[in-house]
Amino acid sequence: MSQATFPGDFLWGVATSAYQIEGSPLEDGAGPSNWHRFAHEPGRVLGGDHGDRACDHYRRYAGDLDLVRELGLNAYRFSLNWSRIRPEGRGRRNPRGLDFYERLIDAVLERGLTPFLTLHHWDMPLALEEAGGWTNPDTAAWFADYVHEVAGRFDDRVPYWASFNEPWVIIHAGLVEGVHPPGRRDPAEAARAAHGLLRAHAQADAAYRAVGRHAFGIVVNLEPKYPASEAQADLDAAARATAYMNRWFLEPVVHGRYPERLPEVFGAHWPDFPDADVSALRAPPDFIGVNYYTRAVVRADPAAWCGARAVPVEDALHTDMGWEVYPQGLTDTLRWVHKHFGERALYVTENGAAFPDGAPVDGRVTDPERCAYFEAHLAAAREARADGVDLRGYFAWSLLDNFEWQFGYARRFGLVHVDFATQRRTLKDSARVYARLVAEQGVSDRSG
Ligand code: FCB
Repeated sequence: MSQATFPGDFLWGVATSAYQIEGSPLEDGAGPSNWHRFAHEPGRVLGGDHGDRACDHYRRYAGDLDLVRELGLNAYRFSLNWSRIRPEGRGRRNPRGLDFYERLIDAVLERGLTPFLTLHHWDMPLALEEAGGWTNPDTAAWFADYVHEVAGRFDDRVPYWASFNEPWVIIHAGLVEGVHPPGRRDPAEAARAAHGLLRAHAQADAAYRAVGRHAFGIVVNLEPKYPASEAQADLDAAARATAYMNRWFLEPVVHGRYPERLPEVFGAHWPDFPDADVSALRAPPDFIGVNYYTRAVVRADPAAWCGARAVPVEDALHTDMGWEVYPQGLTDTLRWVHKHFGERALYVTENGAAFPDGAPVDGRVTDPERCAYFEAHLAAAREARADGVDLRGYFAWSLLDNFEWQFGYARRFGLVHVDFATQRRTLKDSARVYARLVAEQGVSDRSG
């Protein structure tokens, strides 16, 4: 990758999220989030881990941002914990929560980094979850109210605003698989909760635009579904899996409709949403953030969810999450979004890999697979750009090893190794490789 094919104002960053790194979840008047409670329920998270301390970023953010700067990056993606700002999700404000994010954003800017802010990265005020979460018709308005407040406070300094991180995971993991909060398995509730979440996106979009003048969008996780054969049954299985995972949220937001094949996936569980309610979900984003990790090869299987079963790909490298390393899928995904969801700005808002890194030896962590992962995926992103995809930024997941949801601290995605007992940070080789790849592209300072 010695050729400079990315423009000087391309955003090169790392991504993080509040609950995964901050720690101090109840500090300075914050309310408990759904993840705070869920992680403390026995059996929910591997090893009984939780985010009480995490990377202690709540106190160590300045040093962590120094690392981002030292890597020569020009952008930083992070999320706000809504429960710090509205401890009960609605009503009462907690100014000290806003002050924390004010300090954080200023620290980002002082280091010449462009802030890229996510409003909801899976943690929501527990009180709202207990009041029905996304199935409660009022949650959308409470979310919009929170968005209105933070946009009013920070839009002068933050040029990129994403409503949700990976709505599909919120709904699928929370209500189909039951491995994230609220931890139930109820497809009909999942469909209604998704609808409520999409209403929240549309209302937040309007709330943002009433006070903000920058870019407002959404971040989705996309995993291309390749049919295992050319047989019609496998082609149909791939189309259903695509509708469910890749189109469920983008189609309503961009086009004001649900994917054609989605009711087929839910069968009798699919609620009969009135047409006017569905078209009201349209709130075209200024940008789409794409989180890309892997692909799936699928075969028809009537017994499987979506009637599609992922078949294992032999002879390929898999990460510690069991995800196949497949860089071509990133190029394919970016082309696909460009084709189906219009010529709008795209960002790779997450891309990265967990591998079982060893502890630092003489101040060094050797992680050759992760180095190769970033090299190959940046080449894949470059290829999409060469094809005319309007890709404007790339964020590696993640700055730090962190709380990987139901896997706790047992999956390491960081460019920076964290010793959770001492909170010591050590750059992995992949951090240096990523920094070099970015430097070769000629990176410019804050471009927002
Ligand atoms: C994504 C999430 C992020 C992190 C990575 C590994 O689905 O957005 O928080 O857990 O996966």
